[in-house]
Amino acid sequence: MTTATAPNAPILDKGLANTIAAETQMSFIDGSKGVLEYVGYDIDSLARNSTFEEVVFLLWNRRLPKRAELDSFTAELRREYDLPAGAWKLLVEMPRDAAPMHALRTLVSALSLFDAEADDNSPDANRRKAIRLVAKTPALIANFDRHRKGKSLVKPDSTHSIANSFLSMLNGAAPTDAVARALDVCLILHADHGLNASTFAARVTISTLSDLYSAMVTAIGTLKGPLHGGANEEVMVMLNEIESMDRVEPYIRGKLARKDRIMGFGHRVYKALDPRAGYLKTFAKQVAADTGNMHLYEMSTRIEQIMAAEVASKGIYPNVDFYSATTYHSIGIDLDLFTCMFAMSRIAGWSGHCIEQLDGNKLIRPMADYTGPHALRYQPIEKR
Ligand code: SDX
Repeated sequence: MTTATAPNAPILDKGLANTIAAETQMSFIDGSKGVLEYVGYDIDSLARNSTFEEVVFLLWNRRLPKRAELDSFTAELRREYDLPAGAWKLLVEMPRDAAPMHALRTLVSALSLFDAEADDNSPDANRRKAIRLVAKTPALIANFDRHRKGKSLVKPDSTHSIANSFLSMLNGAAPTDAVARALDVCLILHADHGLNASTFAARVTISTLSDLYSAMVTAIGTLKGPLHGGANEEVMVMLNEIESMDRVEPYIRGKLARKDRIMGFGHRVYKALDPRAGYLKTFAKQVAADTGNMHLYEMSTRIEQIMAAEVASKGIYPNVDFYSATTYHSIGIDLDLFTCMFAMSRIAGWSGHCIEQLDGNKLIRPMADYTGPHALRYQPIEKR
């Protein structure tokens, strides 16, 4: 039975698709036009001209840095690249067959054990912790991968950028400038994105005045899902299953016929092309061509063509995960590390949103519409 709702009466908004749950000055999305801006700067101009470190400064300080400010911020990050000794010890105790996102969630949580400021929610302490989280996550991911492969650990190189230092740790050798730049651009594109599920989850956690590390653990667990950050891995699984160009059409049409979701397509907000996907497509082509992976790019564009004909009318276009799969694979990232790449970047957005949430905080606690029975009489167990 539906009852007429009085004005201002609470309404059920499944998935909160039509609910504004926060204000933010970090990223703006126009889903109908396919626009994404970080603090007013279009994502395309940032991907072309900026660096991940500069974008983190922009998101956290709401403005682009002057040269001296960027140098000082970069130095502050680099001072924090290394892990606490206890975290290195824990890392090598991790089961080698652990899924990387489980390992990352556990290791980020472990960082709090070695941070004397873990429960200090002052803006300055949270800013220092945000620096540590962005700075240390690369070493956690790269060295867990080395550990699980039985390789010796590699310390971060604080004379290089986050992207370059990560790839040096991961591969045990310095990356080419092109590959380091490709990862740097991916980190820029994934850094923040409004109130996506993992960012919302982080805000819910910090809104209880819990701590920043706990909020990051919440966010990592939320990002892992294939409807969210886990989709980039699923795109690669799909490309591997398809294997060759001639199998693209039957594979995709079969999935559409079964009403299966095509990973890397669709978006809660974008009903036009995700601008990050547009940029990544161009980038993926260049990186795939440079690394002998054009077959992945060509299969991807064929999938995009079929989907455009079948579902673009429903506002379903490639999202950020679709072409990031080809890019990550082409720069030598293992498939099951793709979502960790997403987290390595988004930890900047998550921590920025947590600091923003605490500025004028209100506990985030929506309602549920109870649809169960009422006023039942308790029956002794013998009489049930
Ligand atoms: C990210 O929110 C963010 O900002 C996230 C993100 C970020 O930067 O943080 O952008 C990153 O998570 C990108 C999305 C990655 N996920 C995927 O690629 C998984 C596949 N996509 C879908 O599951 C889906 O598009 C969602 C979950 C992303 C959004 O779905 P909604 O908004 O809840 O919409 P819906 O599931 O109700 O779908 C509406 C219709 C349905 O058809 P009908 O039942 O109305 O006939 O569109 C169809 C869906 O079946 N549809 C798809 C589809 N996505 C939606 N059909 C085929 N393939 C798809 N991918």
